[in-house]
Amino acid sequence: MVNIRSFKEEDNETLLSIERLCPQGNEECAMAVDKEPDITARYELYDNWEIRVAEEDDTTVGWIGWTVKQGPEQKYVYVAEVMVHPDYRRQGIAIKLLREAERAAHDAKVSHIYCYIYEPNEPSMKLVEKLGYIQEKDVRIIAMSAYKKEHIEREYDLARIDGKDLPEAVKLINSYYTGKAHFSPFTAPGFRTYANRVLGYGLENFLVAKWKGKIVACGGFWDSSVLMEMTYTKEPMMWKLMANAYGILRHFISMPRIPAEGEFFKFHSIVDHAFEPEHALAMEEILNYCNNLMFDTKCEFFGAYTDPDDPIIEVMKKFKPMYETMYLYAKPISGKLPDFSSIYVDCRDPIL
Ligand SMILES: CC(C)(COP(=O)(O)OP(=O)(O)OC[C@H]1O[C@@H](n2cnc3c(N)ncnc32)[C@H](O)[C@@H]1OP(=O)(O)O)[C@@H](O)C(=O)NCCC(=O)NCCS
Repeated sequence: MVNIRSFKEEDNETLLSIERLCPQGNEECAMAVDKEPDITARYELYDNWEIRVAEEDDTTVGWIGWTVKQGPEQKYVYVAEVMVHPDYRRQGIAIKLLREAERAAHDAKVSHIYCYIYEPNEPSMKLVEKLGYIQEKDVRIIAMSAYKKEHIEREYDLARIDGKDLPEAVKLINSYYTGKAHFSPFTAPGFRTYANRVLGYGLENFLVAKWKGKIVACGGFWDSSVLMEMTYTKEPMMWKLMANAYGILRHFISMPRIPAEGEFFKFHSIVDHAFEPEHALAMEEILNYCNNLMFDTKCEFFGAYTDPDDPIIEVMKKFKPMYETMYLYAKPISGKLPDFSSIYVDCRDPIL
């Protein structure tokens, strides 16, 4: 008999150990994370969160976590993760856990509930589809390796943001994302609080590029490895072949690196980026700066999670990225689904 109860601090170790057994993906490609030492650290980035634990005969067998977010008009729920111990799968435990989240969503009278699912994670897609979630949108995962130093002949003034420039940067962010699903315009103090609350981000890691004294591009550079390290437990054959080929070529020229199967790696994310369309080069200069920072600290992998139509994808091409996909699945609760034709990806969400 499965019992669902609230999370207790003592659950931390058990949940971490179950998560290690839960790579997300299929036989060809699967990703796992290590959130040592604290399974709840990712939740602390949000204003509120809830974890419910599933027990069978006093043994912890799985859990679900979610947060209620406040949109400009309505609230909505983000399901951050649902995990079930491999020995207890296909017994309806994940369904039970998701129904808990949906009950909470109903009680909070939110418009909808959503989650992200990594493309190779077919069991999860089947799971949420069974509960009536619809695949609404694909999100591009862009991963780059800082494999060479970029020469910077700067046309723009690049700096870590000065507090007095925050309103101007926030204005640029708001105009870049206005109208996109899941975006609530920031105020300057609100943005400061949010960025400083995200461990490894903070305003000190927010960069601006100026043209004739005006901010034309900006972006945060978030060390998300303070919350988790990632590894591919299964890597596509094509990547292995590419990694080998790059390895040989690397004797002659600089080539990108692909993490080896089973290798834990740290990832930095470009977040809350925004730029004026005619100043894509300013965004490129910010990326060059981030690349060189990574290169110098030998912390190789960085990238972004974005709407596939985001113009930053074009700017990132020169870094020879690898692309993956995750899907946004959503289901109406007490309202209608937003228009997901273009979306803002809250940087806190796509932590696997
Ligand atoms: C995805 C996961 C949570 C499913 O847990 P579960 O308790 O086995 O799921 P349930 O028993 O409630 O399954 C409900 C339905 O989901 C679908 N499903 C679940 N696992 C599946 C699988 N391996 N293959 C195909 N369909 C699957 C089926 O439709 C299933 O109904 P059925 O058993 O009547 O056919 C579990 O496999 C897991 O922990 N995976 C690793 C972590 C992960 O990917 N989490 C999700 C992203 S955070």
